[in-house]
Amino acid sequence: MSYLKTQLHIHTGQDPERDVYQSETEIIDRAYRQGYQVLAFTCHNVIIFSDELKKYAESKRILLIPGIEKTIEKKHVLILNASIEAQNINSFEQLGEYKKNNPECFIVAPHPFYPGQISLNKDLINNIKLFDAIEFSWFHTKKFNQYNKKAVQLAEKYNLPVISTSDNHIFRYFDSSFTLIQAKKDVKDIFSAIRQKKTKIISHDLKWWDYFIFIPFEMGFRLFIKYFTLK
Ligand SMILES: [Fe+2]
Repeated sequence: MSYLKTQLHIHTGQDPERDVYQSETEIIDRAYRQGYQVLAFTCHNVIIFSDELKKYAESKRILLIPGIEKTIEKKHVLILNASIEAQNINSFEQLGEYKKNNPECFIVAPHPFYPGQISLNKDLINNIKLFDAIEFSWFHTKKFNQYNKKAVQLAEKYNLPVISTSDNHIFRYFDSSFTLIQAKKDVKDIFSAIRQKKTKIISHDLKWWDYFIFIPFEMGFRLFIKYFTLK
């Protein structure tokens, strides 16, 4: 069975955080050109998914999976194959209930050890049974990759699979990190293959000047713009 090129953590122009400038169809078009076969839009606290988008993706031979990056007890959690009720989860207890009632969903810990309040850190270990996979973040250089190393160690300790994503905020890095999954183009089969670690992590090293200078500057600039346009 051949490998599917997947991008399972994507923010879009409809993200309430308002720091992504590309529409969903623009993202699908680019993903198609770059050979992706599976995508999941995972905007902050809202599910951006519709029959029209699904059909548009299908017209490009792409399977679109509904998803969300939900803030739960101030921490980010990725829920894939999410139903609309996932928007209402506010505690890890509720996440556990949701998972019990929606066994077809797939829960990923995004960038769990990166600095910042939104990263799971200890909450990942305290709730490890809720998670199906750990994310290997795009944001690293060859030398500065300590947060991902910690994530991989934890995944090994708990025998969890690792997936890599580009957490699309800055579009030019969309293809910098992705996961190849040996599965049929079917949601169930894709999650099953990830659980069985039939995956290949592709995550290119950033240049040090991108990591330390250009990307932090660009993200800071976008925050500045957002602050003034939201006023
Ligand atoms: Fe994200």
